[in-house]
Amino acid sequence: ATERTLSIIKPDAVAKNAIGDIIARFEKAGLKVVAAKMMHLSEEKAGGFYAEHKERPFFKDLVGFMTSGPVVVQVLEGEGAIAKNRELMGATNPKEAAPGTIRADFAETIDANAVHGSDSPESAEREISYFFGNDEICPR
Ligand code: CMP
Repeated sequence: ATERTLSIIKPDAVAKNAIGDIIARFEKAGLKVVAAKMMHLSEEKAGGFYAEHKERPFFKDLVGFMTSGPVVVQVLEGEGAIAKNRELMGATNPKEAAPGTIRADFAETIDANAVHGSDSPESAEREISYFFGNDEICPR
């Protein structure tokens, strides 16, 4: 089925000037960008996004990293978009990411891991509406 998923190009990948390379991978895989914006997240915005991890030992570092520079937030649309995006990203820990995946090619550490992608239809819906109003999504 056609799905939508939320993608974030994280501060490390933006700093590497890899925005275009990463979006090209999405497009080459048949995913369409239907919404996009660059933003520098506040602590509140980043903390709210990762609220499910609030009690985890890595939460503080994660929020610190995600607020360390601008990010590019996008909505990707396509057949099986959620799983397809996760395949393109590779494992959360870049040391475990398969060769040729975004994280294998651009990420250094588990925090500075280049990209985020929704992990289920439920989180996709929540994450998309966390960043985008309906009037900011462009069906195509
Ligand atoms: P992301 O997909 O953005 O979702 C939560 C983030 O927490 C994850 O990518 C990692 O960048 C970061 N993180 C840091 N430590 C861990 C860990 N031990 N397990 C999972 N995620 C972690």
